Amino acid sequence: MVAETSLAERADALEHKMTTELDAIVAKSFLFELADGKRGIENGAKLLAANPGKYMMMGDDQRLPKMPKAPTLMDFFNHRIVGHNHLLQSATHALKAGMNEKTILACLLHDIAVSGFIRCDHGWWGAQLVEPYVDEEVTWAIRAHQALRFYPDESVGYQYPELYIKYFGADYKPDDYVQKAYEDARKHKWYMTARMITVHDIYSFDPNAMPTWDPFIDIIGRNFKQPKEGLGFDGSPVAHMWRTLIRPTKFL
Ligand SMILES: [Fe+2]
Ligand SMILES: [Fe+2]
Repeated sequence: MVAETSLAERADALEHKMTTELDAIVAKSFLFELADGKRGIENGAKLLAANPGKYMMMGDDQRLPKMPKAPTLMDFFNHRIVGHNHLLQSATHALKAGMNEKTILACLLHDIAVSGFIRCDHGWWGAQLVEPYVDEEVTWAIRAHQALRFYPDESVGYQYPELYIKYFGADYKPDDYVQKAYEDARKHKWYMTARMITVHDIYSFDPNAMPTWDPFIDIIGRNFKQPKEGLGFDGSPVAHMWRTLIRPTKFL
């Protein structure tokens, strides 16, 4: 009897086939392995031996859309980041509620980490990613929304999200550092800006709505300082994070 290959084995085989068909050798970063529940990195010498005539990936990964030389925020949205609809819905909701441009931009970017980089501590990562390019208030609000999402504020009609009960169970308690971040945020002068992100952080106020970028292009233009060298190449303290998004499999 022929043993049935499991879905995981077939996925591994397909991944292996795709990897060996590339011009260069892809070695996953430690973090990618950790996300698969593995601790370790592939041995460079072994990879070379298994792929005669090839070198390690040091350039563009052909499996991903090609990025322009001087990429803009919109290039990242078009070629790397997914899940725009949630961000567009939040920003559209804020726009329709008459929020100011800083708040609308904060809504538009609030989950940029989840949609384009990493989930864990996404408020902190997302804020860091855009910090050199937006007003300090926008960054502060993106960072703080992560903690505020877990705590209601009756004064603005914000309740603990039903979805979080489904996601995390009714007994879930945020970590102590999240609780501390919430308490600190409550006392901050920009508390309400971050709180407004949570108010407009709506998963599907209309599941069929497909909001467009149109109203936000000018808002981005006025409020996001796009570096002329492109995101990733302006020498900012976070340029390496954008470069990692451009070439996530670069060997070193
Ligand atoms: Fe979020
Ligand atoms: Fe969100």
